[in-house]
Amino acid sequence: MSAAEAPLPPLAPRERTATTAAERRTGSPLAVSLSGVRKSFGDKTVLSGIDLEITRGEFVVLLGPSGTGKTTLLRLLSGLEPPDGGDVLVPRQRTVVYQEPRLIPSKRVLANVSVGQKRAQLTRDNARRALAEVNLADKERAWPATLSGGEAQRVALARALVREPELLLLDEPFAALDALTRLQMQDLVGDLVARHRPAVLLVTHDVDEAVRLADRVLILDNGGFAVDVDIDLPRPRDRNDPEALRYRATFLAQLGVGRHSSTRQDIS
Ligand SMILES: Nc1ncnc2c1ncn2[C@@H]1O[C@H](COP(=O)(O)OP(=O)(O)OP(=O)(O)O)[C@@H](O)[C@H]1O
Ligand SMILES: [Mg+2]
Repeated sequence: MSAAEAPLPPLAPRERTATTAAERRTGSPLAVSLSGVRKSFGDKTVLSGIDLEITRGEFVVLLGPSGTGKTTLLRLLSGLEPPDGGDVLVPRQRTVVYQEPRLIPSKRVLANVSVGQKRAQLTRDNARRALAEVNLADKERAWPATLSGGEAQRVALARALVREPELLLLDEPFAALDALTRLQMQDLVGDLVARHRPAVLLVTHDVDEAVRLADRVLILDNGGFAVDVDIDLPRPRDRNDPEALRYRATFLAQLGVGRHSSTRQDIS
């Protein structure tokens, strides 16, 4: 295993005992703590001193223009990329779901879900449970090539769930899906997160998705967070709720999308 792939350390004991602002705010223990995290590629600084705390069960959505470093931040959290400076404290159990499902074509669905897991029988039972949770119990013997895009992405979710992550990292997981399937997947992920309560960081370009799912929205720009706001809306959420539209307009404005794109013209 290369240094870049080496697991990052779990949260240090002192982090567990000290009550941080994030823990006080959400009432849950800390799952992620970044402080002063920096990352550059050549002479391009992508992240310039990121501070971030995410608590257990907190659903954080990360927006930002293309190329601002969202995937880089996610890779730092996953342990795939080392920071140039600062501290990255994350739980040991963490999994990533990408835009494409990345299934192994030569393995059936059930084997894809349990891939890399030890203890065969236990793993198979867990994999079946995870498939049932994503409503694919009847597909366990199917080959990946026979699945629709949405089904394949649900298998990828089941594969993530079976690892019981304390930190679930999602990099534009619905971007390749049609609009209706995307809405169904958003509901599914919302339900799964509410049930399993990992800390979540979801990267997306879809502002409506952010308002629908997030406890908190971050917008990454110029190496730091230009926006960090709690979404104070009851669930399930109605995208046409005036407050939801207000959040949407605020985020679109921050992302540099003109007011003409908003469905309301009277939002400041
Ligand atoms: N391994 C690398 N080597 C060199 N440059 C890199 C590398 N990884 C990322 N970059 C650069 O860092 C910047 C941030 O990339 P990143 O993939 O994190 O952006 P992003 O916010 O996820 O963009 P998008 O929304 O398009 O997915 C980009 O300019 C990219 O070219
Ligand atoms: Mg990206």
